[in-house]
Amino acid sequence: MNLKIRAFLTNLLDKKSSKLESKFNSQKNNLLYVCHGSNTKWNGIGQELYRESEVFNNTIQKYHKISKEKFNFNLLEIYTNKDYKILQKSSSTRVMALASLQMGMIDLWKSKGVYPDAVLGVSLGEVAACYGAGGISFQDAVSVGYYISKTYSYMKEPGVLIYLDITKTQRKNLLNKLKGIIYVTSELSLTRFFIFLRNENLEKVSLFLSNEKLKHRVIEYNSSMHTSIIENSPKKEEVQKFFQTIVHKPLEVDLYSSVYGKVVFAGTTLKPDYWYEAMTKTCLSGQSISNAIQDNYNVLLNIVGNSVLKNTINTSAKMHRKKVVFIPTISLKESEIKTLNTTYNSLVNLNLIDPTKSYSVKHNVDSFSKNSTDLMQLEIIKNPYPFLKETRNYNPVQYFEKHEFWQVLNYDDVDFALKNPEIFSSLPAKGMDSVLLGAEPIDHYRSRKVLAPYFSPNAIKKFSQVIREEAEKILNNISIKELDIVKDYAIPLSEKVIANFIGLKQKEVAEIQSHLGENRYELTYFSELEGCFSKYLDTIHSLDKNTFCTKILQSEGFNKSELTSILKLLWIAGTTTTSMLISSSVLILLENPELVNELKDDFSKMKPFIEEVLRYESPEKTSWRTTIKDVELSGVFIPKNSQVHLCLASANRDPKYFDNPDDFNFNRTGKKKHLAFAAGPHYCIGAELARLEVRIALEVLIEKFPAMKLARPKENISYFKSTHFRALESLPVNLE
Ligand code: HEM
Repeated sequence: MNLKIRAFLTNLLDKKSSKLESKFNSQKNNLLYVCHGSNTKWNGIGQELYRESEVFNNTIQKYHKISKEKFNFNLLEIYTNKDYKILQKSSSTRVMALASLQMGMIDLWKSKGVYPDAVLGVSLGEVAACYGAGGISFQDAVSVGYYISKTYSYMKEPGVLIYLDITKTQRKNLLNKLKGIIYVTSELSLTRFFIFLRNENLEKVSLFLSNEKLKHRVIEYNSSMHTSIIENSPKKEEVQKFFQTIVHKPLEVDLYSSVYGKVVFAGTTLKPDYWYEAMTKTCLSGQSISNAIQDNYNVLLNIVGNSVLKNTINTSAKMHRKKVVFIPTISLKESEIKTLNTTYNSLVNLNLIDPTKSYSVKHNVDSFSKNSTDLMQLEIIKNPYPFLKETRNYNPVQYFEKHEFWQVLNYDDVDFALKNPEIFSSLPAKGMDSVLLGAEPIDHYRSRKVLAPYFSPNAIKKFSQVIREEAEKILNNISIKELDIVKDYAIPLSEKVIANFIGLKQKEVAEIQSHLGENRYELTYFSELEGCFSKYLDTIHSLDKNTFCTKILQSEGFNKSELTSILKLLWIAGTTTTSMLISSSVLILLENPELVNELKDDFSKMKPFIEEVLRYESPEKTSWRTTIKDVELSGVFIPKNSQVHLCLASANRDPKYFDNPDDFNFNRTGKKKHLAFAAGPHYCIGAELARLEVRIALEVLIEKFPAMKLARPKENISYFKSTHFRALESLPVNLE
């Protein structure tokens, strides 16, 4: 049946949906993954697999990386520490251990080609089950597990868990009579339940149960999972809010849910409040197991092992007169590898594995995190930071469907990608320049070596004077009271400086400018620039022997066509981002006039001020790369040949390295340097020139017009529509 129709029917028919269709013929072996809930009896389980199985080990490492970075939770301690008592430390530790163990097992079985027809989750096992059914990303599964473990501690109060053998009707009566005193937390089968109550009510409840002649057994317990106690907790909103941030994907296979006690069909996307309900509602595992068996699932692969479930399954199988095989995948009693091999052979015998094929686990391990947001929408262009923050927090590596590229948003991954060109190639820049920015490692190294001496701090120093002169000339020539900082100051100045660097005369600059069009940031003029520079280099014999170009050609660092490409790159790189930084700096000063005075009194503060603007309003929002190998970042698998945008603007606001990253504070002592000039081999070669230019541009402006003001309300100021640049389109100021 079409997945969508099935999903529709699930929603439509709230009751007994598992009986809608007998999904499978009873001739075939139908495989169900069963992921059970928390259990205290499995200390140390997984350690042998962690040592011996590469797939399992990878998953645990990945789980650890995410839980460590996001929640500072050290998972590896559980898998490497011989002292299993660490698991006794807290229920939170056990939750993380079990969730990771189950996800590791799911990946391990999938790597052997064992794909379930459906999955069933019980309590905490819902997390791994949902991950196994493709309904949730790897990262989100880790986050849900963590929040469940956190919620345990919120709800924790000394309580008693009682085990009861009663019918459904008796249960209903009991709940009515002891409303608010007992909470049914979980069903073990259709006639067995756990109830939870506070210590002080034990005497009253025991008396009541004895009087009613209800068979029960008291278990001391320290946690209150699946109870509505959280409803009265001050943490309720926080828990609810967090779970709402989890993004669900359409299930790839049916999920027997203990939250609903029935099947949720493939194609359905779980509701946002699913995990909150999983925490607070009665865990209906008896009903979901019964439904799965009735639906002809006959091979139940127990992801990890729990003997309590075995009884439930046997009872249900008897009730429905079905033959069921229940296979453990890991056991306390023998070597983990031995159980694994036995189970593998059983599955081969049941025709559930084809031993001649090898499988890859990649598509399961990855969390193919898709985002449908249009990054060009006005709100995001105007102020991208709230969106970047939210996205980075949720999942720092995402695929943007509309744009068909990946975005990497956290500092560590962006930094890693920038520093590993053998994985993240600069291919996307080849169209602009293949000699330096778009060059691959060996060629790039050679080109960089030729150019580096011209950009050293010493070589750059000599431009101070010319920058100051040009800046003063522009401002002295202004006769009007209103000035557009972008078009009348920042762009003309940066063009003058780069022209001077290259050695262009006024005539050549004018010709270039005639091709650039109104909006310089559109970058529609590559070929015209190339034509201009090629023509310019034809006149090389008549040039001053001491210019940048003549020196390079004489030293045979580049041939003419290579140098043409470099000139084009320098013009674009040197004029766009630098003018953007000048304009953004001015806007920050206009919004914070007290800063103008502070800087005017002490220009030595200009340097840290500019570094903070680079971090806070990074002119190059993203650097573009193409993956030339499969790669994994933050647990997300990115295939070879993917377009990847490394979001410098987001990395520069990563709270891991920048405290209160959304505050503009030029006195900050960051734990890492900002990435506005990128990092690794393509680190901006013009960084020193840019810093010098922006510093002098601001000094001259402040000296001349210390009282300048915004000429329009800030809301009317627009930014250039681009995923690449952070650029004000215009910035009108009143000079008096
Ligand atoms: C505030 C101003 C500037 C910013 C924010 C900036 C930013 C960047 C960034 C992020 C990159 C790396 C791009 C990538 O890896 O994909 C880069 C590279 C580059 N930048 Fe800048 N840049 C600025 C000014 C300049 C100036 C003034 C020049 C030259 C006059 C320049 C020349 C270059 C060149 C040639 C590269 C390529 C380096 C290589 O591939 O080895 N930049 N810049």
